[in-house]
Order: sequence, then structure tokens, then C-alpha cells
Amino acid sequence: MTKFAPSERALRCATLRAPMFTNIENQGLYRAIPPGFLKERAKQLGLDHFPDLEILREKIAAFQDDLRILEIGVGEGRALEWLQQNFRSASIVGLEACEKQIENLPTELTSNANTQILNQDILDFEPAAPIHVALLLWSAFYEFNPEEKAELLSRVYRMLVPGGFLVIDLPREFFAEALSDKGEFQVHVYGGQQIFHHLISDEELDRLAKRLGFGSVEKRGYQTLGSVKQERALFILTKA
Ligand SMILES: C[S@@+](CC[C@H](N)C(=O)[O-])C[C@H]1O[C@@H](n2cnc3c(N)ncnc32)[C@H](O)[C@@H]1O
Repeated sequence: MTKFAPSERALRCATLRAPMFTNIENQGLYRAIPPGFLKERAKQLGLDHFPDLEILREKIAAFQDDLRILEIGVGEGRALEWLQQNFRSASIVGLEACEKQIENLPTELTSNANTQILNQDILDFEPAAPIHVALLLWSAFYEFNPEEKAELLSRVYRMLVPGGFLVIDLPREFFAEALSDKGEFQVHVYGGQQIFHHLISDEELDRLAKRLGFGSVEKRGYQTLGSVKQERALFILTKA
């Protein structure tokens, strides 16, 4: 397993900046990375084999008719492509806060008649119809500060049908070029760009989700099998 030493710059950022950040500040990284960066990272980690989505396949398929899926943070379309191929008749709304990521999406994904891609922030989004499955994959929940995390969960809770669920995917370890080691609030560097993380413990996530109304939180651990192997976990938050 590769270990990365924190760079001087990242450590300086971590100590000099107030630990609080906003999710919008983190958009800087997504605007700056070149097209294909996420695809390459996904390949390195083995996320291009969709271990996260394969775990969810049966649970998603249990909603038989009129399935509506919300993907929060489409990025370069890794998960969206899997969803379009495996749930052909589902209506999919893909939200992406970073306009540049949307511009770089392949037309095969954007021209799919069942998919709507919106350049919108989840923290401002109201769906036209209730959602069965909401997905926040590949670590993005860490990129919201504690208040934003609560706002995100209560907003998604309101969107879901009873029995619907939100999936949050989080790494148990990081493969950054550099990272500060500052506990709950961290600065990471990917592609030469810094991004802020607020790490939430499993217990805190469980407590927060239940306080905001979710009936159950199920945790499913897995390991990615790319050239970099990473321990990760899916948290499935179900509305009773
Ligand atoms: C690591 S990528 C994940 C891409 C994709 N979900 C996947 O699994 O391959 C995270 C994406 O979430 C987007 N994002 C971050 N905060 C967001 C927000 N508040 N609303 C919508 N999208 C957001 C980022 O711009 C980025 O493209």
C-alpha cells in the first residue's frame, strides 16, 4: 500500500486556514483537473469495475416500476454509465455542481432520453417527483462541512419515497498526493489541487441520519481491486 507524506504546502494550509470550509470552495479542484483525471483515478482504484454499484444492484432492482434515481455529483459519468446500461427504463437525474464536468461528459451519456443532467448543487435542488434511490458515491460526502452534511441528508430524506434510500460511499483510507493529518478536518491534494474534507465517524453518521428521520443505516464494507487497493464502505440510509 502506498503511503503519501504530507507536503509542506498542504500542512501549511491545514494549520493556517480555519478548519471550516464550504462545499463550494471544493469545486476549485473539479474545475482545475483535466478531462479524464477521474477516469484514470477510477481505473487505478478499480472503481471502473463498479464494486460499489454491483453491491447495490439487487437493492435497486427491487423497485420494479417507474424507478427514479438521483445521482449527486456525476463527475465524468462513471456511475451514470453503469446506471444507464443496467437500469435502461429508469428515469435518472444526474446533478453536477461543476459546469466544466458536465461540458466534458460524452454525448452517449447526455443524449440518453431517460436521463436529465442538471448543473445544480444538491443543497439547492428540489426534484420534480419523489426519488427511489439517491446516490452520493466516491467519497463526495466528506467534501461537505458538518452543517452542509445535515442539510444534505434532510433534503434528500424529504425527496425519497417511503422505503427509498440514499447511498453514501466513503473510503476508509486515502490515496492522495499529500494530506494533512489534522483529525476531523483535513486538507488533501489530488492532481496538484487541494480539497477540504470533514471526516465523519460511522457512529456519527448513523446518529445524524437517524436524528434527521432515516429509519435504518446499513453499512457494507468492500475493497477495490485496482493497482491500488482501497478499503471502502457503503452506507445505505433508508427512509422507513
Ligand atoms: C468524485 S466525483 C464522483 C463522480 C461519480 N459520482 C462517480 O462515482 O464516478 C464527485 C463529483 O461531485 C460533484 N459535487 C460536489 N459537490 C456537489 C454538490 N454540492 N452538488 C452537486 N455535485 C457536487 C463534484 O463536482 C464532482 O464532479
